[in-house]
Amino acid sequence: MSSHADKLPRHIAIIMDGNGRWARQRLLPRFAGHQSGMESVRQVVKKCIEDGIEALTLFAFSSENWRRPAEEVGLLMKLFMTALDREVKKLHKNGVRLRVVGDLAAFPEELQQRIVNAEALTRDNERLALNIAANYGGRWDIVQACQQLALRVKLGSLQVEEINSDLLAAALSLADLPEPDLFIRTGGEERISNFLLWQLAYTELYFTKELWPEFNGESLQRAVASYSQRQRRFGRTSEQVEEAAG
Ligand code: IPE
Ligand code: IPE
Ligand code: MG
Repeated sequence: MSSHADKLPRHIAIIMDGNGRWARQRLLPRFAGHQSGMESVRQVVKKCIEDGIEALTLFAFSSENWRRPAEEVGLLMKLFMTALDREVKKLHKNGVRLRVVGDLAAFPEELQQRIVNAEALTRDNERLALNIAANYGGRWDIVQACQQLALRVKLGSLQVEEINSDLLAAALSLADLPEPDLFIRTGGEERISNFLLWQLAYTELYFTKELWPEFNGESLQRAVASYSQRQRRFGRTSEQVEEAAG
C-alpha cells in the first residue's frame, strides 16, 4: 500500500449543505437552492464517472430534516420524484448503479415505488455506485444493524460471543462497498450531522465554505487533490507507513 493516499479515493461521501443560504443570498426561496443543487449533483456524478471513482454517497435528506417546515419537506419530496423521473435513464445509460439508503418506509408510497424501479433498472451497472442517503441517519443505521444481529441470535443462528465489529459492519447499509476514503461537507459547517457514523471512522475529512449549488467538478478536483496530499496512518507511525510503502 502506498504511504500517501496518492491514489484516487475509491469512495467519496458528501454532505451537500448550503442550499438555503445560497438561495437567501439571492433573495430566492430556500427551495430554489435545492433545485439549483441538482446541477451540482449532475456535475459531481459526471466527474466521478470520468475519474473512475467507484462509489459516491450523497446525503440528500437526514432523519432530522423532517423537523423542517412542512412546505420545504413537501417540496423536497417532489424534487426527489422529478429527479428520479428525469435522471434515471441517463444514469443507467452511463453505467451508474443507483441505490437509495435510509429508512424508506417513511416516504410517500409513490416515491418508494420509483426508488424500487430505479434500483431494479440499474442494479447490474458497474461503472459508478451512486448512493443517495435519504431519511438516513448514522445512528439509525447502527440500530438497524443491531436489530438484524439480535434477530439472528433469537433465531439461534448466531451466538452473542460471535458478534464482532466485522459482523456489525456487514449488517450496515453499503456493507458491500469500501468505507468512504474521502468525506466532503460544503456550506462551511464542520460537523457530521449524523451521516455515516460507523463508516467514517478512518475517513479523511474535507470541509469547504463553498455552498452546494456552487460546487462543481473543479471543486471536487480540489477536494481530491487535498486527499492525495494526506498520509493515512490507521494508528501506525509515519515511519511504519513509509517503510511499508517502500
Ligand atoms: C442542504 O442544504 C440540503 C438539505 C438538508 C436537504 P440546506 O437546506 O441545509 O442549506 P442551509 O444549510 O440552510 O444553507
Ligand atoms: C445535513 O445538513 C443533511 C443533509 C445535507 C441532507 P443539515 O443542514 O440538515 O445539517 P445541520 O442541521 O446544519 O447539522
Ligand atoms: Mg444546512
